[in-house]
Amino acid sequence: MQVPTQQSRGGAVLAGLGGWLPPRVVDNDELSRRIDTSDEWIRTRTGIARRHVVDNGLSTVDMAVQAGRRALRSAGSYGEGIDAVVLATSTPDHLCPASAPQVAAELGLSGAAAFDVNAVCSGFVYALATAAGLIAAEIATRVLLVGADAFTTLLDPDDRTTVPIFGDGAGAVVLRQGSPDEPGAVGPFDLGSEGELTDLLYVPAGGARLKRSDDPSDHYLRMQGQAVFRHATARMASSSRAVLEKAGWHTSDVDRFVGHQANVRILTATAKNLGLPADSLVVNIGHTGNTSAASIPLAMLDGVVDGTLRAGDRVLVSAFGAGLTWGSTVLRWPGLECEPPA
Ligand code: COA
Repeated sequence: MQVPTQQSRGGAVLAGLGGWLPPRVVDNDELSRRIDTSDEWIRTRTGIARRHVVDNGLSTVDMAVQAGRRALRSAGSYGEGIDAVVLATSTPDHLCPASAPQVAAELGLSGAAAFDVNAVCSGFVYALATAAGLIAAEIATRVLLVGADAFTTLLDPDDRTTVPIFGDGAGAVVLRQGSPDEPGAVGPFDLGSEGELTDLLYVPAGGARLKRSDDPSDHYLRMQGQAVFRHATARMASSSRAVLEKAGWHTSDVDRFVGHQANVRILTATAKNLGLPADSLVVNIGHTGNTSAASIPLAMLDGVVDGTLRAGDRVLVSAFGAGLTWGSTVLRWPGLECEPPA
């Protein structure tokens, strides 16, 4: 086990990565039999061919536990002595309490600090910054960070504007205390929000503002797709530029771009806006759909498994989500042993 020296503290280093997708797969043809859409429309407008969805009582906590267990295994000895569990989610099992303590307990980590972070599809990057902050402040030395969402539970099953886009899943990383200069050290970060635009992507009822509504559609996700598309592309590009400047990187230094997997057209438009080559994109949306807070760690995992993400790669990470929220970071990819997402 590596013991950080006094000088080497302050960095939060990626030490393990895991992911899990629920077994039930819904492809575009199955959706086309239920709602007025087609495989061709979904593929060309979004890049999605199929997605995994929760059924048979599976929940966000269940998925988070599976992904967390794999990340702990991937981290080897760094998976021992976890002192904080951070869960990025906007679909917790209960409105109260947070789901992270239950995830911690089911992983045998009872006693660790545990809390949820909700920044919707930007949640993983926000939680990564939070976990890195816990380590930098020496509040924690090893953090399990899980991004997990059962976003399909928020959807009107008859709404063709949202159902094709989203899927469910969980991705997780272990962060350990280390040097800011070593491979795997995350940061700097750029985070932002624009709450004036909440209405572009939100669930009107169920929270403190409107507990129950007589209109059932108020309990489902409402999305202005074209406006969200425009903001996502602009914000991921501007946030990426801001974090590259903080890091002292030029665009040409970036080997891989791991962006939130919302729509392959958003990813290619963002890469084009930044001047990044299309082959720098890590893309797995075709088989996952938009898994919200799970999307970035799941894309990283697929990138490692299929060899597009290799030790030493300079990686730009950027996310965008409801809120509106956005966030970006950079890291040099470390050598990690990972299992494919089950
Ligand atoms: N199947 C077939 N046709 C559909 C459809 C579906 N599932 N959904 C919409 N359409 C139709 C529309 O009714 C419209 O028809 P019309 O031209 O006859 O009026 C046409 O397809 C184009 O609709 P439009 O909304 O302009 O499509 P689009 O190219 O903007 O793609 C999204 C729609 C939702 C895929 C796209 O706007 C998007 O990805 N937005 C961002 C969503 C997102 O990422 N949300 C999460 C952010 S974290």
